[in-house]
Amino acid sequence: MFDSIKDQLKKAKKIAFVTGAGISQESGIPTFRGNDGLWRNYDPMKLATIDAFYDNPKLVWEWYNERRQNIFAAEPNLGHKAIAELENFSEVIVLTQNIDGLHQIAGSSKVLELHGSIVKIKCTVCNYKEEILTEFSDMPPLCKCGNILRPDVVWFGEGLPQDVWEEAIIHANSCDVMIIAGTSLVVSPANTLPIYAKQNNAILIEINPDETNMTEDMDLSIRTTSATALPELVSMFKNN
Ligand code: APR
Repeated sequence: MFDSIKDQLKKAKKIAFVTGAGISQESGIPTFRGNDGLWRNYDPMKLATIDAFYDNPKLVWEWYNERRQNIFAAEPNLGHKAIAELENFSEVIVLTQNIDGLHQIAGSSKVLELHGSIVKIKCTVCNYKEEILTEFSDMPPLCKCGNILRPDVVWFGEGLPQDVWEEAIIHANSCDVMIIAGTSLVVSPANTLPIYAKQNNAILIEINPDETNMTEDMDLSIRTTSATALPELVSMFKNN
């Protein structure tokens, strides 16, 4: 699968992964835009925007609680575990759009959550932030300051946290190889990370059963799932 770029991969000092919902699909978490897509049942503009939240905070909280239950029941799959194992062979940074925390549970030590985290909440007014692992009883939950709490995730129309995005660009500009796994690359600015990497002469590898609008920019695009391809990538390093 990786033979055509085996030498460049083996020489890589730093490998950056850009991952999306597809890498958690084999853990039973639905993607957003695939045919099992989460957005198939909901209009994202009715749930994942700040206006939707203020229009109906209870509905948005119930949706996130449903997603939280789904995520807490999920286990990292062979794709997540392979990325974690790759740290034995190279510097690895994971730039993920996912909020499910499965990369960290699989053992990846350097993960940047570009779109926040399902376990993090914050106050809509004061600077209170917390990680929660349980469901709230009263909907929507209130902060000690009396204002509504919200999921600490990036909604459509919201910018990424400046510090997180700036760090992500540094990694995209300084990796030798960027592996884009399980993302449709339709949401910005995460979908610009491969452009930064390419501008810095990184090798781009895409792992996705479907083509994306950046497939032709890739040095190698593999039409398979991440849980199939990534263990093979690790075994290539093992059998050096
Ligand atoms: N292995 C690898 N890729 C897969 C797999 C799999 N097992 N199953 C599906 N895919 C691919 C799909 O073909 C699709 O290209 O993963 C991609 C998932 O794309 P999306 O559902 O659009 O998810 P993502 O790219 O992460 O969306 C980006 O959009 O809704 C917002 O904030 C949300 O972070 C999310 C962002």
